[in-house]
Parts: sequence; C-alpha cells; structure tokens
Amino acid sequence: MRYLRRERRQGTPPRGRKLQSGLDSLVHCHSHIKTVSASEKRYIEIVQQHWETVYETKATDQVSWFRPHLETSLSLIERATGSNRAASIIDVGGGASTLVDDLLERGYRKLTVLDISHVALDLARKRQPDALAKAVSWLHADVTQPGLAIHAYDVWHDRAVFHFLTSPEDRLAYVRNVAGAVKPGGHVIVSTFGPKGPTKCSGLDVMRYDAAGLHEEFGPRFRLVESSREIHATPFGTTQQFLYCYCTLG
Ligand SMILES: C[S@@+](CC[C@H](N)C(=O)[O-])C[C@H]1O[C@@H](n2cnc3c(N)ncnc32)[C@H](O)[C@@H]1O
Repeated sequence: MRYLRRERRQGTPPRGRKLQSGLDSLVHCHSHIKTVSASEKRYIEIVQQHWETVYETKATDQVSWFRPHLETSLSLIERATGSNRAASIIDVGGGASTLVDDLLERGYRKLTVLDISHVALDLARKRQPDALAKAVSWLHADVTQPGLAIHAYDVWHDRAVFHFLTSPEDRLAYVRNVAGAVKPGGHVIVSTFGPKGPTKCSGLDVMRYDAAGLHEEFGPRFRLVESSREIHATPFGTTQQFLYCYCTLG
C-alpha cells in the first residue's frame, strides 16, 4: 500500500518499477507483504471490477448511498478531533463521496481516502484544487488486505463498506486492520445498514447490524462511546436505515 500511495502522491512510479494499474498494482502491492492465492486474487478482481463498473456507469449523485454532505460523519469526526485540524483521518471505502471535500474545507490536511475503485478515487481527487488534491493520500487498496501503516491514524471512518463483508474471515481481517492502523486511544466511526436497512446494496448482499451486533464484531478493545440510527433519503425517493457506531480504541 505504501508503494501505491507514493506513486499517487508524486505522480511518477518509483525508480526501476513499471507503473501498473488496476488489479495488477493492487495485488503487486500486497504481494510484498503476503502471498495472494489465485482464488483470492480472482475474488479481489471481481469485487474491484464490480465497483469500477458502478462508478463508470452511474453519476456520483445517482447512487443509493449518495448524500450531498455526510452530516453525521462530519459531526462525529469533529467531535473526535476537537479543534485539532492536524488529526490524521482515513476514510475507508470513501469512494466518490463528498466527505473529503468537506474535511478539506474545514481545514483538515492529513487525510487518506482508501478505496478498491480507481475510478471512484479519481472522481473525488479531480474535484479538488490541485494543491489540496496533493495533500490527500489516495490509496487504492482492498480494506481487508494487510499493508496499512501501523498506528498511523487518529480517526478511522467507514460509511457503508463494512456491511459488504459477508464472510467472517473478511470481517476479521478488517478489524485486524483497524486495530493496527489506528493509534491507541484513537477514534473509530463505522456506519452500516441498521436492523431495518436493505438486505442488498448495489446488487450485492449486505449485513445489517444493531449497535450491540456491530460492536461484537469489533470486540472489547473498541470502547463504544455512542451509537445512533439515521434514515437516509436516497436520490430515488426511498429511505434506508443506517447505524452509526463511534468507538475509541483501547
Ligand atoms: C456504498 S459505497 C459508500 C461510499 C462512501 N463511503 C459513501 O458513504 O458515500 C461503498 C464503497 O466501498 C468501496 N469498497 C467496497 N469494497 C471495498 C473493499 N473491500 N476495500 C475498499 N473499498 C471497498 C466501493 O468501491 C465503494 O466506493
């Protein structure tokens, strides 16, 4: 993952390495850290392709999860960071959402947006003025794979990504990544579909959680500070129930 981040920040590949794109770079990056089996590679490829197609074929504001602003996320992030605009924040599965725009506007500069879709990252990056786009780390990666920097983030934010992890192994890998990447005492904000939320999103099966169920996935190292439910109005005039959990990491 570090290789990808450097490549995107500087716009040129490291010396002696060929610039790769899409899945090749994703797997190439991971292959430094662990062996990726053929079936795992194929699985990552299918997930990535799914999301690339979504972002290639649908307008950013015409997907069910779109909101002009992620108000609840913003308010929890501001609460977690107080007046510290130097806080390091990662938005996992940030996609093309406006959260990064709103955080930049509020003066945060240590931002990382991670997503499995190159297209989504490019959409979000191109919306920003050049100088601000360069200040953000755009990380093309699968959040269930290892490779995130250790104790790098004050705040971990995820809206509508964890609920796509339908296999216990993927959820365990995700939780291991949060526990490693967030600083001790750091903040973890995860939003999924609530108990009355949809059973599918973007054509994929999803999990639904209440606060106790979501907290159980993360375990006792994560201290639940607050949970809330939100009724999200989709661009199509329907509603979806979301759950927000805000934890600190022990
Ligand atoms: C429903 S969208 C939510 C986007 C954004 N967080 C928001 O609230 O608007 C899910 C996002 O997660 C990304 N995603 C799905 N699986 C992922 C994975 N395993 N690793 C990283 N990103 C993933 C998708 O590309 C997509 O951008």
